[in-house]
Amino acid sequence: MGDHVRVFAPASASNLGPGFDVLGLALTEPGDVVEAESREAPGVEIVEVTGDGGALPTDAARNVAGLAAADVLRRLDGLDAGPPLRRGVKLWLQKRMPLASGLGSSGASAVAGAVAVNELFGAPIARRELVASALVGEAAASGTPHADNVAPSLLGGIVLVRSYDPLELIDLPVPAALRVALVHPHCEVSTAAARRLTAERSYALDDAVANLGNIAALVDALHRGDLVQFGRSIQDRLVEPVRAHLIPGLADVKAAARSAGAFGCSISGSGPSVFAFAGSDADAASVGDAIRKAFRDSAGLESDVYVGPVNTEGAVRLD
Ligand code: HSE
Repeated sequence: MGDHVRVFAPASASNLGPGFDVLGLALTEPGDVVEAESREAPGVEIVEVTGDGGALPTDAARNVAGLAAADVLRRLDGLDAGPPLRRGVKLWLQKRMPLASGLGSSGASAVAGAVAVNELFGAPIARRELVASALVGEAAASGTPHADNVAPSLLGGIVLVRSYDPLELIDLPVPAALRVALVHPHCEVSTAAARRLTAERSYALDDAVANLGNIAALVDALHRGDLVQFGRSIQDRLVEPVRAHLIPGLADVKAAARSAGAFGCSISGSGPSVFAFAGSDADAASVGDAIRKAFRDSAGLESDVYVGPVNTEGAVRLD
């Protein structure tokens, strides 16, 4: 047990086409950092939030990192053999990624908060068990406790949420050659608002059937390292059509990714970021450039591009 810990939790791309709320992967960058120190008074105090332009609350009861941290504290106090110790922590949250971006920003903050507090007290709670605490924070940000961002941010890799009640997570294989191009155009989409759009709809059975076929093919492709089939399976007939209008230039962006040879391209989470896949760093960089150009030409938006392998480590303690 140390007096001070610092934890990095990576951004994530979720849904991955057909897997609304059930598929996500961790990125190597960007990500958030939470520092934690113990304090005498019980409960969570957020000392400072930086990098958010003043957008996020420092009231721990309204901050995703604070809420996740408080849930971990409650669980740690519950582990005590005698009367609970009633632990307390001070947190510093460094936002190192944009908000409302489709990069799992709230999920990364929640994960970093949960992991930092657990590490501060000697990490008695197993990594996988911390997903439940991160979900408490995520639910406050997006309106529902969806795990497809927090699970990969915490655990790394590509994660399938087989069930929410009880929560069951399955780690999928990550083909060695797989590279992600993640492009964040400079505009915002509120996850809570994007989720309301999907909730207000009814869905046709043939669209559900198409998604079922694609998600099964996607999982099979990962097991066999078949990037072509993986890319062909990144098609979403349920959620993407409902949200496409929230992302300026999306049709042109997807066409540009296809022309550049991407293995699939779709909305990352609720957007506006999009992801695409390739089989090498050079190809992923070309795909990322093509998407960036399409956002500029089609929608007049500048973008940030992140290219790299899937992050198989997840959240890490820095010191
Ligand atoms: N699966 C979630 C959604 C991810 O699409 O609403 C949000 O980042």
